[in-house]
Formats: sequence, C-alpha cells, structure tokens
Amino acid sequence: MKILKIAVIAGDGVGPEVISEGIKVLNKVASIDSTFQFDFTYFPWGCEFYSKHGKMMDDDGIEQLKEFDAIYLGAVGFPGVPDHISLWDLLLKIRKSFDQYVNIRPVTLLKGAKTALSDVKRENINMLFIRENSEGEYSGAGDWLFKGQDHEVVLQNSVFSRKGTERIIRYAFETAKREGRSLTSISKGNALNYSMVFWDQVFEEVSAEYPEVKTASYLVDAAAMLMIKDPKRFEVVVTSNLFGDILTDLGAAIAGGIGLAAGANINPERDYPSMFEPIHGSAPDIAGQGIANPLATIWSASQMLDFFGYEAYGKLVLEAIEQLLVDGQVLTPDMNGTASTSEVADKIIEIIESTV
Ligand code: NAI
Ligand code: MG
Repeated sequence: MKILKIAVIAGDGVGPEVISEGIKVLNKVASIDSTFQFDFTYFPWGCEFYSKHGKMMDDDGIEQLKEFDAIYLGAVGFPGVPDHISLWDLLLKIRKSFDQYVNIRPVTLLKGAKTALSDVKRENINMLFIRENSEGEYSGAGDWLFKGQDHEVVLQNSVFSRKGTERIIRYAFETAKREGRSLTSISKGNALNYSMVFWDQVFEEVSAEYPEVKTASYLVDAAAMLMIKDPKRFEVVVTSNLFGDILTDLGAAIAGGIGLAAGANINPERDYPSMFEPIHGSAPDIAGQGIANPLATIWSASQMLDFFGYEAYGKLVLEAIEQLLVDGQVLTPDMNGTASTSEVADKIIEIIESTV
C-alpha cells in the first residue's frame, strides 16, 4: 500500500474549517482504493502562531516540509498581523523555496454553478489559467530608501529571467498540446517596455516549437474586458504572477464565486512538494460560524488527486461537486443556501458513495 504523506497547514480564520472537510473527502476517496492511503501531519503555523512566537512558521519549517509528498493549505492572514508578513513569511516562502513555479487555476463554470455574467453559455466558460508563480512582479526585489523622510523613495522591481519565463511558457504549451486546446498569452508589452516585450518575445520563440498549438496574445487590460464580453476565446492561458493573481479572481467571479475557486502550486520536476489550496483568504468576517464554503478546498483536493496520478478519483470528486451544485439543496450561504460547512462535505461524501 502506498502512503501519501501530506503536510496540512490549516492556517487562520476559515482555513481550519474548510481544510478538515477537504481531508474528510480525501480519506473517503482513499477508503475506496486499497492501493493507497493518506497520512496527514498537522502544522500549527499561521497568524495565531505568529502572535505567540513572533514568526509565521518554525525557523526550520521549510526543512520540515521537504519530506512530504504534498502540502494542503487552508488560508493565512488575520487582522492584527500585517498581510505582507503573513503572505511573505509563509505562503510565498513555501512557493519560492519549493520552486512551485506553476500556479494552475481552473476557471470552469460547472453545471449548476452561478456566473456573474448574463447571456453566456456554460460551456463557453472553460479556461485553464497557468500563472507564473516564482518571480515576475512578486520577486520581492526592491528597496525603501529614506523611509519616513520627505524624499523617501520605494522601488518594487519585477524580475523576468530567461529561465523563469521560458519554463512557464513551455509548461503552458505542453498543457495546451496535451489537451488539444489553444493557448493565450496575456502581457502588457506596450507599457512595460522591458519585461513584457521580453515575455512576448519568449512566447513567440517557444511557440515556434509547437506549430500544432493555436495561439493568441492580448494586453492584460483588453483581456480583462474580453473575459467578460467573450470568455470562450480563452482556453489555456499563460500569464505573469501579478496579472494571473488578478485575472483569476475575475475568473472566480464568472465561474461560481470565490467559494469554488481552487489553485495548485506545482513543482513540475517533483524535486519538492507541491501545494494545494483554495484561492480565497481566511474570511475573518465569517470565521468561526461554520458556514464557510468548503467546495474550493474540496476542488483543490481533486487537483491533488490528479497530481498524484489518480485522475479518475480527481474526476470523481469534481463530478460530485457538480452533482451537488445541480441538486442545489445543500449549499452554504455564499451560494444562497442554508447548509453548514460540514453538511456540504458530508453531502459530497454521500454522492461519492452513491457513485462508486
Ligand atoms: P477573503 O477571500 O478572505 O474574503 C473575501 C470575501 O469572500 C469575504 O466576504 C469572505 O467572507 C468571502 N469568502 C472567502 N472565502 C469564503 C468561503 N470559503 N466561503 C464563503 N465565503 C468566503 O479575502 P480578504 O477578505 O481580502 O482577506 C482576508 C485575509 O485573508 C487577509 O488577511 C488576506 O491577506 C488573507 N488572504 C489569504 C490568502 C491565502 O492564504 N491564500 C488569499 C487571499 C487573502
Ligand atoms: Mg489572490
């Protein structure tokens, strides 16, 4: 029997509430297959940990996480700890240390899910965002000079390396080729006259290696408009760290809301663990009430199953989510329902049981 070792960082706010439900679903799936099992190890890191210890994770936290097959993360961030600290000292530290340079965010309107758009066919909202996740605008390079003085200056530098740009674009081409879909690059070569001109050039170069993949290229502002006006243009999409961050929240709004959007942080070489998470935050406004939507976290469990090569189970979980949405009976308040977090997950498990 294969044991998959998962590091669980439930984090803050609704993080622990949704993660425990995701784990229930993963354990359910493992119980149907006698060839593998999950072994979860819990790490108490996050903002509460910070308030006690003055740091977001143990000093050797990255060392501790290295031996795991994957990381399952809830959300981090809570009032009282500045967001740039909670983000940089935990989430971004993990993404960067483990070279999780691919962020995969599906923007697919499942059957039964509501979209913010009117007059749109469900099958026309089916995008796969591949976001650069290791450098770009979130390189962390910069300085704050003469802080507090009237001539203070801040510098926030973007870093686009040849290696970093090529590998994400190549990953996107491989994905588009495998799925037989088009690939759209989103950049901003008119205003960002170094970084994005370079990005566009690399996209052209790599494109030449994939003559079978149909391509398109848009400026980010036009892309934001077109995602609303004509979403079917977008199939597989590759973009930079910042643009991907923003556009996938827009994507969440047109594909069922923030309670449904999942993201995988992948180290394709598998030298380090990859990390699976809902894209929403710790939702302090609803934390502790047991009403957070666990579906995004459950969708990310489906991504984890795909990553481990259990695509059939990944599909099983995703189809259970879809079935639940179509039934429309057991939903949390953000989806206009009255169910609790655990009632939704229990229903997912019931659907899985009735399918297998
Ligand atoms: P948020 O995603 O936590 O909340 C935005 C809105 O969506 C809120 O009204 C919230 O109630 C709702 N919402 C979020 N998740 C939900 C769920 N599962 N079910 C139902 N409703 C849900 O974003 P916000 O408020 O900007 O940030 C709150 C904290 O979370 C901040 O400290 C921020 O830094 C952190 N954050 C952490 C992220 C992560 O760990 N990956 C990502 C985004 C924000
Ligand atoms: Mg974001």
